[in-house]
Parts: sequence; C-alpha cells; structure tokens
Amino acid sequence: MSEKTDRPDNRIIETLIRAFFSMVQTSRIHRDNNQLALKCAQNFVASCQAAFQNQGELRLRIANDRLYVQEEKLGFQRGTVALIQNMIEYLERRSLGGFNISEAIRQCPLEQVLNAARLINTAQGQQDPFEWLTSELEACRAHWITPQPHSETDLNEPAMELKERALKTYSYALTSVKVVVEKIASHKHPGIRHATRLAQSMVDLMIENESVFMALSTIRDYDDYTFTHSVNVAILSMCLAKHIGVPKQSLERLSLCGLFHDLGKIDIPKSVLNKEGKLTDEEFKQIQMHSLLSVQHIATLRASRERKASMLIPPFEHHLKYDLSGYPQTHRRNPISFFGRILTISDVFDAITSPRIYRPTALSPDRALKFMYKGTGKDFDPILLKAFIDMIGLIPLGTVLELDTGELAVVVKNGKPVHPARPRAVVLNKDEQTGEFYKGKTISLADKDLTSGKYLRNIVGTRHCSHLNIQPVDFML
Ligand SMILES: [Fe+2]
Ligand SMILES: [Fe+2]
Repeated sequence: MSEKTDRPDNRIIETLIRAFFSMVQTSRIHRDNNQLALKCAQNFVASCQAAFQNQGELRLRIANDRLYVQEEKLGFQRGTVALIQNMIEYLERRSLGGFNISEAIRQCPLEQVLNAARLINTAQGQQDPFEWLTSELEACRAHWITPQPHSETDLNEPAMELKERALKTYSYALTSVKVVVEKIASHKHPGIRHATRLAQSMVDLMIENESVFMALSTIRDYDDYTFTHSVNVAILSMCLAKHIGVPKQSLERLSLCGLFHDLGKIDIPKSVLNKEGKLTDEEFKQIQMHSLLSVQHIATLRASRERKASMLIPPFEHHLKYDLSGYPQTHRRNPISFFGRILTISDVFDAITSPRIYRPTALSPDRALKFMYKGTGKDFDPILLKAFIDMIGLIPLGTVLELDTGELAVVVKNGKPVHPARPRAVVLNKDEQTGEFYKGKTISLADKDLTSGKYLRNIVGTRHCSHLNIQPVDFML
C-alpha cells in the first residue's frame, strides 16, 4: 500500500543538495558581493522554494548513514549515491544532525544566505560545532535556518533486530563500494572513512553472530554484480580468516581488501566485462589488467599512506594463483601473501556461484566447492582451501536442495560434526497464485522414521537459487 508523502521528489532534493554544495564551495573563495557567489545563493534559495511545496519548512536529517527529508529516508538512486553520501559526510564532519530551513529564506538578502553558508563551512573545526553555529546564525539573524544536533539514533526505527542490522550492514557495504566507484569514475579521489567504519561494523557483526554474517554472502544481484561480489568476497574472506584464528584486529584490513579488490574493473569496458561468448586475446588482456588497476586506484584513495600500503598487495595478487601461474604475470618467485591466498579462494567461490549476463547458469555452492577442489595446490593454497570447505560445510549454507519428497529446501545450518551431509533446512513453500516461494517449516535431514529407522528425507540434487528467483538469505535469517 502506498502512502501519500510530504517529501518533495528525488529530483528536487538532488537539485537542492547540488545547489547547497555549489553555494558552500563558492562562499569559501568569494566575497559576499561576488556575482558568481550571489548567483549560487540565488539558485539555492530557488531550489529551497521548489522543495517547500505546501509546507513552510524543509527538514533535512542524517541518522545511521542515511539522509532523511521530512522524516522520510532517501533511497539511494543510481548516480546520486555519491551526492547523498557527500551530504552525509559534510554534516558529520561538523557533527551536525541536519537543518530545518524555513520559508523565511525567501525574504532573506542573498548576502546573508551566503554568510550563513560560510558559517556552516567554518563550523568544522569548532569545539562544539552545533552550539557554535547556532549562536553565530542567531547573531547574524539568519532565522531561516536552524541547525540540528547530531544524533546516533535512526529515525522511526527502534532497536533493530539482528537480522535487520545484518541486512543494513550489507546495504551500507554495497553503498560504500558504489560511492568509491562512482567517485573514481568521475575522476575524484574518494576517502575511505565510511568504508573503514563499515569494515569495523562488519567485524562486530561477524563476532556477534557468524552464521548470520556468512548467510549474507549468499546475496546475489544480477545487475549489481560487481558491487555484491565485492561485499561477498569481503564477508567470505573475513569468515575464513576468523575460522582459522586470525585476530580481530587484522580482519578490518582484510575486509577493505575484499571491498576494493576489483576496483580496477571500472576501467574495463562493460562490453568486455559482460561479453557473452569467447573473449578475443586483446579483450582477455584488458580483463587481466584489472588487478593492477585496482592497486592504482587504491593508491589514489584519500587515506593515510600506511592504510593504503596495507591494502595493496592482496588485491594485486587475487588472480595470481597459488602457483603464480595466473595474472598479472610477474617474475617474482616469492609466494602469495596470506591475505592474497584468502582473497583468491573467496573471489573464485563467489564468482562461480553467481549467475552472470554471459553465463546465466552458475554452480550451486556444493558443486562450486567440488570444482575448486580440483585446483587445490595449484590455484589455491591447499590448507586454506580445506579450511574453507570445512567452514562452508559439505553442503554449504544457502544451498537449495531437491529432496526425494518432492520438496525444495534451503540449507540454514550445516550438519557438522555429527551429520555433515545432512544439514538443517527450511522448506520452500510455493504460493500457487503468485508463484513466489515463502518460508515453510524447518527440517533436519538427519531425522529418521522411528518405525522403519529410515531417513525421512534424502537429497536428490541441488538447484541454483537464481533459477527459482529467490535470495537464500531471505529464508536463512
Ligand atoms: Fe578480480
Ligand atoms: Fe573479484
């Protein structure tokens, strides 16, 4: 059911934010009587007027890394992710929670609007930016704008359940990668403050509940493959590292390596990346450049040297293979780094279990593990691969099983250690009218008929979730 909303549409808000940024930027370098600066202030006032609609006030807020207008969360649209993120970061740098802008702006001289913009800029670096800005705006009688204090709470969202938090963390991770990619694509040098904070939340979530965290890695998005792939690789790598006892402090770095390992794909034409059929030698060479290009992009991120240096090697190595026979070809003989070997395994596992435009049939997780095992000692570090298989389980979480009862079921808990081949699963019930699947009962494949002593259900095959148009994670959490 759709509700009538008081929020202006996305295009108006986008124009408003762009006008805001033009104004605060020009106010930094121009005096109040400068024509260009006055024009920017005029545009800002006009965009506010367009946004007021029938209301006398416009309320902009940030909470939990999202932007709200009139208490309604702004969705991330393609092309505006970076803009919204910039606004959030701009306010966060000033420890502000947002602004109320009233219709009084219509009567305000443009010089005063510019002066307010300059004050908002200057709030960064003040000891208490909110207090400082409130009193400065008051002093110059800029009554059309009321700064809001920063608040950690999410609007309209009470304490979130683990499932919601997990899905939210995943969507933040996607956004983080998208923002960095968009900025690089428009020749900017993005910072990684947001991604670093996100990596910390990912570590916390994993420590709190590893199976929920790992379940997230089954999320697939046909259209946003590069982004979901990057997040999934980060998740799987972190889980593998934790599984083998890597200390918590190192997991954040591994997470960033996973998120940014394929940044270099920005430079490869989509026609090559998504080509159906065989690549020409030239096209394959282009694809092979991406790990090196990832390193170049990571090196230009706005972050400390140490931070960037710690993120360069694993992305460079992620296609090099355990026996160094992969790409980019190198004369080095020293083995691949530990994190490079972890990244290689999670990268391949996610790639071959994801359907792509040029390869709509992907392997189900159990088949993927069998396939990867053929490359043990050559493509993959044998010890790490064994640990990965052990972690994922003989029949990995998220696998869609075909049962001899005719039922389909999603694996939600592996059967280790007693019944490694007989996991717990959620039966998929089908709505006959819509054809959609919904969550049925939870079963154990290890359950037996008490009279005959035979198993109640047996696995006869596996299906790929994309064929059924489901996200396993919806049934697992
Ligand atoms: Fe790659
Ligand atoms: Fe990759």
